[in-house]
Amino acid sequence: MTEDLQGRVAVVTGGASGIGFASAQRLAQAGAAVVIADVNAAAGAEALERLGGDATRLGFEPCDVTVEAEVARLVERAVARFGRIDVMFNNAGLGGAIGPITETSAEDWQRTFHVLLDGVFYGTKHAARQMIAAGQGGAIVNTASVAGMAGGIGPHAYSAAKAAVISLTRTSAVELAAYHIRVNAICPGAVYTPLMHGGDFEDADRAIATVQPWPERGLPEHLADVVHFLSTSASIFVTGQTITADGGMLAAGPRFIESQKRGRRTSGVAGFTQGSTGRPNEIRRLNQADGDKPRT
Ligand SMILES: NC(=O)c1ccc[n+]([C@@H]2O[C@H](COP(=O)([O-])OP(=O)(O)OC[C@H]3O[C@@H](n4cnc5c(N)ncnc54)[C@H](O)[C@@H]3O)[C@@H](O)[C@H]2O)c1
Repeated sequence: MTEDLQGRVAVVTGGASGIGFASAQRLAQAGAAVVIADVNAAAGAEALERLGGDATRLGFEPCDVTVEAEVARLVERAVARFGRIDVMFNNAGLGGAIGPITETSAEDWQRTFHVLLDGVFYGTKHAARQMIAAGQGGAIVNTASVAGMAGGIGPHAYSAAKAAVISLTRTSAVELAAYHIRVNAICPGAVYTPLMHGGDFEDADRAIATVQPWPERGLPEHLADVVHFLSTSASIFVTGQTITADGGMLAAGPRFIESQKRGRRTSGVAGFTQGSTGRPNEIRRLNQADGDKPRT
């Protein structure tokens, strides 16, 4: 494993669990000093222990990302402790408001946005101020979601807030490029963390099997590798992007072809269809050895 973040300092919000924890671990393995920030102080202390508790390179700061003053203090304390900030991973999140839009209260809607969008705004603002003042550039990574890219994946407020994170990633990347600060987002699909399906992984397996082409489960470590890439000079010319890691879920879309396969028209055949040209279709029947294996 490379140590390409040696001497660098990273702050990870929502770092006590799931994708944030795996990313904190990955960035630390790459040589960075890492400050984990989380509203759950008990989980934060536990996370620090799981990381090895090396106080010279690791720290935990209790922080509620919905409160601007707490995020500002988080960034200040990271700089005070480790001398600089190079990577800000704005990742803290929760499911927020659920249920039909007709049953969603304005308060729950706003509480969802406070965590998922305002938290990213505050983190970007205060990290960028420090990075600009230091004049050494930096990398900001935000956590969006496939739910921000298509309907039918997540709840209303969650999906709208994640779509806004993708937009904020683009607008801030444009502004901060002049300072060599890159801003990108990760866009996870279904990742097996306590957040997903309320931790009911068997239920999640059933749901995901129908929508995710990749056979294995998405793990926090898969996203941590993307966060690592976006944090290092390996991605020096990448900014304003949203990198999706979803096992092909969005690529598959509504799986129209699959549903047709279950019907008669395109099942067990291959060749060339001529549309409305008046020419005959060139279709041959397949047997299973030709690659028309049924999905399991
Ligand atoms: N797990 C998935 O399938 C999935 C998919 C797409 C996007 N995401 C996003 O990934 C991010 C991480 O989620 P996860 O799956 O690792 O969940 P997780 O529950 O394992 O971790 C989220 C962490 O964020 C912290 N947090 C919540 N609200 C906070 C606040 N106000 N201030 C500070 N910390 C707060 C929690 O305490 C927790 O430690 C979230 O933004 C989530 O929306 C997750």
